[in-house]
Amino acid sequence: MTVLVSGANGFLGTAFLRQLGRPVMALLRGSDHQQRARTLTRRTGVPVTAVPGDVRAELWGLRDDLGQVRGRVSAIVNLAGVVNWAAPWSLLSAVNVEGAHNAASLAASLDVPLLHVSSLYAAYDFADEVPQTLLPEQADLTKYERSKIQGEWAVADVCGEHGVPAWIARVGALSGDLDQSPRFRDGSLHVPFTRLVATGSWRVFPYAAKARLDIGPRDVVAAGLVKLLDARPSGVQVRHVCLGAKAPLIESIVREAAASQRGQDVVPGPIRVPARWLQRASLLADRGGQGPRSAALIGLRYFASGSVFETSGLDRDISLQSLVRTLGLPHRTEPPPISSYYGEWPA
Ligand SMILES: NC(=O)c1ccc[n+]([C@@H]2O[C@H](COP(=O)([O-])OP(=O)(O)OC[C@H]3O[C@@H](n4cnc5c(N)ncnc54)[C@H](OP(=O)(O)O)[C@@H]3O)[C@@H](O)[C@H]2O)c1
Repeated sequence: MTVLVSGANGFLGTAFLRQLGRPVMALLRGSDHQQRARTLTRRTGVPVTAVPGDVRAELWGLRDDLGQVRGRVSAIVNLAGVVNWAAPWSLLSAVNVEGAHNAASLAASLDVPLLHVSSLYAAYDFADEVPQTLLPEQADLTKYERSKIQGEWAVADVCGEHGVPAWIARVGALSGDLDQSPRFRDGSLHVPFTRLVATGSWRVFPYAAKARLDIGPRDVVAAGLVKLLDARPSGVQVRHVCLGAKAPLIESIVREAAASQRGQDVVPGPIRVPARWLQRASLLADRGGQGPRSAALIGLRYFASGSVFETSGLDRDISLQSLVRTLGLPHRTEPPPISSYYGEWPA
């Protein structure tokens, strides 16, 4: 038996396959799906069999291949997603909502459990401590956040109706791998946080006092997802795969990053602003354009919330220094001790 995975060649998907360490069937788009499966096998070290499809299609487009898949698959993992915050609603909704709905219908049709990957941002700023339960869709979410929470409800509705056991795993922001391997790239050049701070979009780094960033190395998060997959849920259950109360303050991440870089001014100076300014600017940008500048502005809200996410945590202790090392910023191997530069930083 194997696992059917969508989004297997994405940023989190490749890390998931490496942590899983066993053969998978990957739903891959495009006529070159066989070639993509071979590349994925090379990139992850696990044997990958391709099935052509698209999560936007009913039963992921597998209706004709259902006979082949049935009986060979013990679970479905839905990692496909549109993660570009500035993408149009039509695309976000088709992949993140309809794709999730189709994942649940496929799991029901194959009579196997589902692991659906969502985001902590589906519950953005919901409460001081966000519970691991399905939550109502709040006002003032961005398009991306709305698509992720609606995806969760689509999974819950279909799985609830058909009695399919399902994990809805809300994942925090991702950095590169904590354990670097000479065999594989560590992904740190693609970390969204780093792209936000290092693209030169901002001269200063605005953040709100007490704002936290729940960010975890993708290999550690992927290991958490594998652990969920190996434990059968009873009914539909929500789990936060993240740092929770150990999530660092934005301020400490930026200071650590600035202090540890090798003389390059990649990290802009931090400046404290009211949370509502960042949230307002973000929502305005969310109604605007679709380019990288809009995405950078939308991302401002992730430096504004002090919410802590209830969780049993990641299975590794991760120091702030090691976390910063996974961000892909230039860094010194021996940054100065925190106490020496914190004292000098303007309050
Ligand atoms: N990255 C983060 O910081 C982060 C944080 C929290 C949660 N998440 C969640 O984690 C999941 C994976 O994110 P990621 O960072 O790995 O994204 P990613 O690197 O952009 O990968 C997205 C994957 O989804 C696939 N995909 C997109 N549309 C598809 C469709 N219509 N049919 C089939 N496959 C499709 C892509 O396939 P192609 O290669 O064919 O394009 C790709 O493999 C998403 O649900 C996201 O919301 C990510």
